[in-house]
Amino acid sequence: MKRNFLLLFFLSVLLQINIYSQQSAAPERIILNLTENPSREIAVTWRTEQQFTNSEIQFAQSTSWIEFKNNVIKVPAIEENFMTDDGKAVYHYSAILKNLQPKTNYLYRVGHDSIWSEWNQFTTASNENIPFKFLFIGDPQNDIKEHCSRVFRQAYKTAPDAALLLFTGDLVTNTSDILWSEFFDAGGFIFRTIPSILTPGNHEHKLVKVDGKFQRSKILDPSWNVHFTLPENGPKEFKESSYYVDYQGVRFIILNSHYNVKEQAVWVEKVLQNNSNKWTVAAFHVPIYSMGSGRDSKVTREPLMPLFDKYGVDLVLTGHDHAYGRSKKIYGGKVVPDSSKGTVYVVSVSGPKMYALNPLYKDLMAKTAANVSLFQVIYVEKNQLKYQSFTADGNLFDTFFLTK
Ligand SMILES: [Fe+2]
Repeated sequence: MKRNFLLLFFLSVLLQINIYSQQSAAPERIILNLTENPSREIAVTWRTEQQFTNSEIQFAQSTSWIEFKNNVIKVPAIEENFMTDDGKAVYHYSAILKNLQPKTNYLYRVGHDSIWSEWNQFTTASNENIPFKFLFIGDPQNDIKEHCSRVFRQAYKTAPDAALLLFTGDLVTNTSDILWSEFFDAGGFIFRTIPSILTPGNHEHKLVKVDGKFQRSKILDPSWNVHFTLPENGPKEFKESSYYVDYQGVRFIILNSHYNVKEQAVWVEKVLQNNSNKWTVAAFHVPIYSMGSGRDSKVTREPLMPLFDKYGVDLVLTGHDHAYGRSKKIYGGKVVPDSSKGTVYVVSVSGPKMYALNPLYKDLMAKTAANVSLFQVIYVEKNQLKYQSFTADGNLFDTFFLTK
């Protein structure tokens, strides 16, 4: 009896060790990102807690059954070793899948040896300007697992066929590993199946002590670059945080608004000059018109707004102010008729942290609100851009149309 007990105990310890090694070896934080060529490429990034030199992505065109497995292409991953804020060595992997067919369903999985993620499905962009929709999500930042999970999931329920997710920064209130874990848990399979484009906010920049006080530096926290694989077609200094992507007739210009916005504006002008897309959407963290009480940030307004006017940017999507504000059509800092040339400016928030509303730009706004967690679905149609903002519980909150 005693011998049997010892044997059972020994087997149970072995099982525990095996379960532990399986868990820590399993790919996690898997995310799709758009590249600058979304009809032909897609980027995949993930990490493990154990190091594997043979990590790879396997992918194939989707089939209705499992026969796609006969046509799998293997792509070795690039590995980046990373030390988390709590002193844990982890291993991030990434690869860009290339030579894909436009408007085609693909399956992929990531891993190594016998430990693999599930097969995830995604669709490449069309190489024609056909209608699509995308999701725009403002600052999650705080209590991400507790409160933002339902917002991300409601967004997916509202637009499960969204072509992309656009985040405008402050994904996490600090770049601790535990908060990144919450962000990826909240996104779950959505991040694995709908590609994201993201830009950092102030909270993804490193904290430094100046004169005894902590403040955000110009240095993007290294956890940003290891978690995402974003385009590098922007200014050199802003690798994977300022860039542009053309998607089915829309030019998305993504900026890191945390510093040197004036210098980035030189690049923005070039990107706006050489733009044959029907629609232009600019997205960054710090709003043109501050919605948070006591704020009036000129950091983006002064260098960028004259360019948005000159080159006819249609829509500017931002966060940072923990409130909601959607402007009327604006040109030269003034409200213009809907039929005139002008830009609509939006500030939105998805997380639970809220600020009181700023009355400063009330006259320019079509809709403002405090204390409401939101997500937006934006439909790009042939001659129309339809914008809808929804509350966390799925009710339509704000809507407008732009026509061309
Ligand atoms: Fe912010």
